Amino acid sequence: MKVNEAQFIISAVGPSQYPNDALPEIALAGRSNVGKSSLINRLIQRKNLARTSSQPGKTQTLNYYLINTDLYFVDLPGYGYAKVSKTKREVWGKFIEDYLLKRKEIKLLLLLVDLRHPPSKDDVGMYKWLKHVDVPICVVATKADKIPKSKWQKHLKIVRDALIFDPSDRLIIFSSETGMGKDELWQVIEDAIEV
Ligand code: GTP
Ligand code: MG
Repeated sequence: MKVNEAQFIISAVGPSQYPNDALPEIALAGRSNVGKSSLINRLIQRKNLARTSSQPGKTQTLNYYLINTDLYFVDLPGYGYAKVSKTKREVWGKFIEDYLLKRKEIKLLLLLVDLRHPPSKDDVGMYKWLKHVDVPICVVATKADKIPKSKWQKHLKIVRDALIFDPSDRLIIFSSETGMGKDELWQVIEDAIEV
């Protein structure tokens, strides 16, 4: 997709703040610090529209970004950030859960995992739950630039095995640093919003 315009719309804390123009939404989920905001920036070729941070747990709301007048990226709060209090984590969990369960506009959820490491318990739980509730998923294994190419397939297998990956889902190797996987991911997104 050619991105002519990308703009931040709102940091939503509840359904009353979600846009009501019925445009398709592409949601991004994954552990804190996995690279969700960086992936959005890379897809739209903007350095810092989606705020990134080396401090995990920064994105704590549903952040909507409008791309042209075609779709929204919805940057979800990262999960599994241990330093956040348990109560707060549970509130986030419920908030994301309600959005994922009820929001009809979601056409695809990008589940980001770090290609360098085996998926965490939270990653495995999230994938399983998403499959259970039937949200369309594309798994994006990111930070690929941080390991040598010769190890990618081995790491991908670890990701697949740990998630009990459904072969009918897409799995894309990505790097926000180099832009690897960008065109392939855009294709998956375009296919998802045309349905
Ligand atoms: P939260 O908003 O806290 O949930 O984090 P996030 O998932 O949005 O992560 P973010 O995009 O802020 O990235 C976290 C850190 O990882 C930043 O320092 C990024 O520069 C770095 N990073 C993200 N993606 C990549 C990548 O593909 N390669 C490399 N080398 N670094 C990356
Ligand atoms: Mg973020």
